[in-house]
Parts: sequence; structure tokens; C-alpha cells
Amino acid sequence: MSRYDSRSGDPASYRDRRSDSGFGGASAYGGSGRSLSSRKDYDAGEPPRKLDLDGLTPFEKNFYVESPSVAAMSEMEVEEYRQKREITVEGRDVPKPVKSFADVGFPDYVLQEVMKAGFVEPTAIQAQGWPMALKGRDLIGIAETGSGKTLAYLLPAIVHVNAQPILAPGDGPIVLVLAPTRELAVQIQQEAAKFGASSRIKNTCIYGGVPKGPQVRDLQKGVEIVIATPGRLIDMLDSHHTNLRRVTYLVLDEADRMLDMGFEPQIRKIVSQIRPDRQTLYWSATWPKEVEQLARQFLYNPYKVIIGSADLKANHAIRQHVDIVSESQKYNKLVKLLEDIMDGSRILIFMDTKKGCDQITRQLRMDGWPALSIHGDKSQAERDWVLSEFKAGKSPIMTATDVAARGLDVKDVKYVINYDFPGSLEDYVHRIGRTGRAGAKGTAYTFFTAANARFAKELIAILKEAGQKVSPELAAMGRGAPPPPSGHGGFRDRDRDRGKGYGGSRPWN
Ligand SMILES: Nc1ncnc2c1ncn2[C@@H]1O[C@H](COP(=O)(O)OP(=O)(O)OP(=O)(O)O)[C@@H](O)[C@H]1O
Ligand SMILES: [Mg+2]
Repeated sequence: MSRYDSRSGDPASYRDRRSDSGFGGASAYGGSGRSLSSRKDYDAGEPPRKLDLDGLTPFEKNFYVESPSVAAMSEMEVEEYRQKREITVEGRDVPKPVKSFADVGFPDYVLQEVMKAGFVEPTAIQAQGWPMALKGRDLIGIAETGSGKTLAYLLPAIVHVNAQPILAPGDGPIVLVLAPTRELAVQIQQEAAKFGASSRIKNTCIYGGVPKGPQVRDLQKGVEIVIATPGRLIDMLDSHHTNLRRVTYLVLDEADRMLDMGFEPQIRKIVSQIRPDRQTLYWSATWPKEVEQLARQFLYNPYKVIIGSADLKANHAIRQHVDIVSESQKYNKLVKLLEDIMDGSRILIFMDTKKGCDQITRQLRMDGWPALSIHGDKSQAERDWVLSEFKAGKSPIMTATDVAARGLDVKDVKYVINYDFPGSLEDYVHRIGRTGRAGAKGTAYTFFTAANARFAKELIAILKEAGQKVSPELAAMGRGAPPPPSGHGGFRDRDRDRGKGYGGSRPWN
């Protein structure tokens, strides 16, 4: 029988019941410092090898009970549903997708929160990802920006926590979510707080740039869920403010970013402190082939679910426009564009460098545009303030480096502008994905210069896959032709919902 009673509706009493189940506290787990080499990739035909779990207390991670309506789905219905929602699955014993929230078997206290949020049905990644995650298996989940991946891992995390013995003094978290930026970590925490509130799960966010004191106090009090950026978490581990001996549910959000060269050593260090039979879940909108092999080193017998094409792709709800420009034309083009589109809705503008961000923002402000900037050289207090002004719509234009490219979910960002082309096509997909979220439509404008020519071919593929127009100039660049002389191109076919200019009078008006 499953220990996870979806209809109990009372998580606290459920956890109390479990607390005398003979599971020890932290001391029972001897798992610290275990080598990763015990987790490996397996071919489909090869049975999973046994993990070395010497001295580790067993724990529950399979909570999934198929609802009668899901069980009644024939293989053909499953196939049809997956096709309709563009769900591709890999792995052995893949569970059927769920069509409705009620079918997942989430406890009432979780379902109530979902209803309160006003959601109508699971997104595709949730429909297939929830049963997979609830089965306790490792998982790679790839789905477009703004498609609800956060709840795809947070709701099963809540179920997971509520089925574990309560924390003993000195215990570290049960769920660890790693994210690449502070703002994203904080956003995930807010979501965890919202959906975990009714089950009295405590959480904290461990990230740099702010005083350690309050974070240390949270850790010492005991929290079931920790959301962290790697650097500060390692600080906390090195100074013994927490430990990962009780982590049994590990999430890498923006997993391809977390496994790239910048973060990989830190991830390795963190993961080496977590027991090998943990459940590990990776999520992203992009999944370059190069990370797959590295990623699988940390997984055991994983499922993989991909929504839409397995190739790099952008969210189809976003209209994409690309304008071939020269570097010197960019600012004037930007202002023209802003005059066209500015109607008080939020506009996010990406730049390459912090310096560029500052320069353009200063210029925009001098010219009367309500712009603020967020990047890594700003104090965390300023970053927080800028983001909150942007979210509140008080400062509808935000300029940013890639620090804002991934994961951030700001309501009603209508336009994303790539003032500078990003350093990779993956970043392009994440950046423009700040608009067109959760069923909304969005528009992205991208300035593309001769210096970006090497990205032309892949960019064209992304545009085509999403059914977007490719200008003859860009197509020529994709074929290796030199870019046209400056002044060509332009956002000819952009939507013409011209807004009023914003701010005071400008010299070129
Ligand atoms: N089932 C649902 N129905 C409608 N909206 C949902 C559903 N699940 C989540 N959302 C909302 O969709 C928005 C985007 O979700 P989320 O931030 O998790 O996207 P994501 O897939 O993680 O995107 P990214 O790749 O950019 O990180 C959020 O505002 C979230 O509340
Ligand atoms: Mg996300």
C-alpha cells in the first residue's frame, strides 16, 4: 500500500503518524561524502545496477497511485493524448499521463492551492511529469519557457516531504532545489511558500549578496525545503550551518545551465554530499546534446520527458522579429521601436555587458524613458528593488544582462528586446521566454549584427520551427553571405499596435 494517502487532507497528522515509524533522524544516515560513481546511465536493455546503500536508512519515494480514470486509459488513448500535447517519453515503465488535476492524486491541501491559483488543467509537462516524479524516479523534464515546470517539481516535492519522518534537531533539508540566479531562487521559494503553506512545510532560500545571519537561523531552526544558489550553499555547508544528509529529493532547475562549465564543479561538490538513492530531477526549456552525458552521471535509471521538438526550440506563443542592424544604429533603432510599442506594458531589454546595460539605461533615462537596470555588479538590494519596480509596473522598462534570462516569471512582460544578441541560441530561447508565458502571447525583437553572423543558421532554424518569418537578409546571412550594408532590414511586419510615446519630449520627436 502506498504511504501516500491522497485523500487524507491533513498533512500534519500524517507526518505525526510517520514520526514514530522507526526512521531515525540525521544520525541514521551515513550517506555523507558518497561518490557519484555509483550512479550511472543505463541502456534501455540493461537492468539498473544496485546502488551502494550501506548504512543508509531506507526512505519512501514512490507515492504514485494511478487513479481509476487514468488506469482505464487504453494504450491508444495514452498515445493520442501524448501526440496531442506533443509529449515524448523515454525510460522503462513510464506511467500514463494525467489529464486533470484530480487524476494526479495530490492530497486535498495541495489541490486546494492549485484551484486557488485558478488553473484549469495541467500543462503538458505537468500532465506527464507529475506521475513520473511521484513514482520516485529520476527525471529529465524539458518543456518550453513559461510552461509550469516549477510546479511540476514543487508539488511532488511537497508530497515527498510530507511522507518523510519529521526533522530532528540538526537535520538539514529533505528537498534541495538548485537554481542559477538569486532572483530565480527567491521566486521558486515564493512559489514553494504559496503551495506548501497549507501543509506547514518550512522553506528558506540560501543565496549570496545578502547577510548570512537570517539564512543561518532558518537552517538551524530546521527547514524541509531549501532553495539555493550553489555558491552560498557551499559556504553554508563548509561552515557546517547545514548538511545534506537528509536530502532525498534533489532538483536542478535550469539544469543545462547548472551543468555547464560555470557551475559544474560546484554541483559536483554539492551532489557528492547527498545520498546516492536520492531522487534527482532536472528541468529546463533547453537541453543541448553536450550536457546529456554529464547529466546522466548524476542520475539513476531516469525517465525523460520532452514537450515538443527535441531540438532547440522557442515557445510558439512568442512572435519573433529579427532586425539586421549595425552596432551604431542600435540605439536609434531601439528608441524608434520603443516609441512604437510603448504603451505602459512591461518591456525587457537584454544587453551583453553590465557596462552596456548601464550606458544604455542612463541614455534612455536622459531621454525620458522609465528604465531601470539589473545586472551582476549591482548590490542585491538594488537588484531586488529594480525587479520589484518592474513587477509592479512602476518602471515598465527593465534592461538586463543574462542574469534575468532564465526562469523569471514576471506577469505581463509583453516585449523582450535583444539589444545585443546573446552568446548562445539557448540563451536566446530563455531570454525571449520571459514573454509569452502561461498561455499569454508575447513578442520578441532582436538586433542582429555582422558580428553575430555565426548564429544566423541556428537562429533561422528556431524561427522556422516556430513558424516565424525569416527575412531575406537573415536568410542570406544563414547561407554565409555577408550582411547587407547598414540600414537594411527592419521590423517590417511587426504588429502595429502603436502605443503613445512614453516620457517627456525627446529630441527626435
Ligand atoms: N497548470 C497551469 N495552468 C496555468 N498556469 C500555470 C499552470 N502551472 C503553472 N502555471 C503558471 O505558469 C507560469 C509559468 O510557470 P513557470 O515559471 O513554472 O514556467 P517554467 O516552465 O519554469 O518556465 P522557464 O523555462 O522560463 O523557467 C507561472 O506564473 C505559473 O504560476
Ligand atoms: Mg522555470
